[in-house]
Amino acid sequence: MSYSDQFFNAIGISGERGSVERFAKLSGVPAQRLKFYNHNNVLPSGSDLDRVIKGAGITELLLKLKMGRVDKSISDAIQFYADEISELLARYNPEAESPKTECKLEFETSLGKLYRGDCIRFLKSIDNDSIDLVFADPPFNLSKLYPSEIDDRLKTENYLHWCQEWLFECARVIKPGGALFLWNLPKWNSSLSSYIESFLTFRNWIGVDIKYSLPISNRLYPSHYSLLYFIKGERPNTFNPDRLPMQVCPKCYGDLKDYGGYKDKMNPAGVNMSDIWLDIPPVRHAKYKRRDGSNELSLKLLDRIIQMATKEGDVVLDPFGGAGTTYMAAELKGRRWLGCEIGPIDVIVERFNLIEKEREIIDSYRKNLNSLFPENIKHNREKLGLWTCETVRNPA
Ligand SMILES: C[S@@+](CC[C@H](N)C(=O)[O-])C[C@H]1O[C@@H](n2cnc3c(N)ncnc32)[C@H](O)[C@@H]1O
Repeated sequence: MSYSDQFFNAIGISGERGSVERFAKLSGVPAQRLKFYNHNNVLPSGSDLDRVIKGAGITELLLKLKMGRVDKSISDAIQFYADEISELLARYNPEAESPKTECKLEFETSLGKLYRGDCIRFLKSIDNDSIDLVFADPPFNLSKLYPSEIDDRLKTENYLHWCQEWLFECARVIKPGGALFLWNLPKWNSSLSSYIESFLTFRNWIGVDIKYSLPISNRLYPSHYSLLYFIKGERPNTFNPDRLPMQVCPKCYGDLKDYGGYKDKMNPAGVNMSDIWLDIPPVRHAKYKRRDGSNELSLKLLDRIIQMATKEGDVVLDPFGGAGTTYMAAELKGRRWLGCEIGPIDVIVERFNLIEKEREIIDSYRKNLNSLFPENIKHNREKLGLWTCETVRNPA
């Protein structure tokens, strides 16, 4: 993952051999640092910035503009000259993009429709303000091989631009008060969040505790996925999160935290959901994984999101089908759904043929919700003489 050569182009470094070293000598900024700025499209700061603009004979403003770095002062100036700038930009004619794969309806249930083709074409066919919840789990641009053979190794700015294109369409189709949930690596979501904020309202950055790589030397161990939650407008149409059971020791059923004198204040219906989710299992085991390379998510995750942001009969849309987890959760929860997948969809169809198995999985998750101590935990705590809601409220 890297950027195109915006930095080198801005300061006049060509692709010619030795040109980086020549500029390094001229400016006094080491070649390795120049390569770092270019690779990551990072604007130099401090004395490197002074040396770079002097060496290139350009202004700081021109450097920023050529690198696409628009800060507050540039944004203010653009707003001030908006009329003139919009005329200038209307003349800009970038290369035509390659045509997107057409979308065909390939699978249907009484509640949902699944299309095969490109997500942007699919989204463009959806009416304005018609969807209650969009959930999106796009490819992460990590050079993965997908069955659809999509290019998962785009230049950073091209990946972000592609995400912006379909996110813009997602925002367009969401109803006022509807919700968008975006699942991605923190690296991508930190950048996409500020883009989405230009048309939707930020609610939460949810950290979902799942380790997705081995520890990396010299770095903190990557241990959470980011789940962004936005709504359209001021208030959500539906916000109905489940309450969770209190965490207890899985072996001795004892408390993991000291609740001191607050036990009787604990809600018997369970703990308020926070923005850190510790209980979402990764889908790694071959027994549960429907398709290699699809990065299938847990039904528990989709059950939680759909429960929180929709009512029965609402419409859920997911533009990246994968193994169809969103469609399955929506179907089992009585929501209408719309989906799209560019690659093969047989795995999703097969999954729907075994829907009763999936129902058992979702039911097994749901039976532990909305109660401080689910039945089996309560039973074991009573047997061991540990406190329960009843014993703290009505002491013997
Ligand atoms: C990370 S997976 C989604 C997994 C899914 N959330 C699940 O739990 O099964 C992303 C999917 O998006 C599909 N995809 C990639 N580019 C696409 C595009 N332009 N249009 C539609 N689908 C696309 C890939 O083929 C892949 O199956």
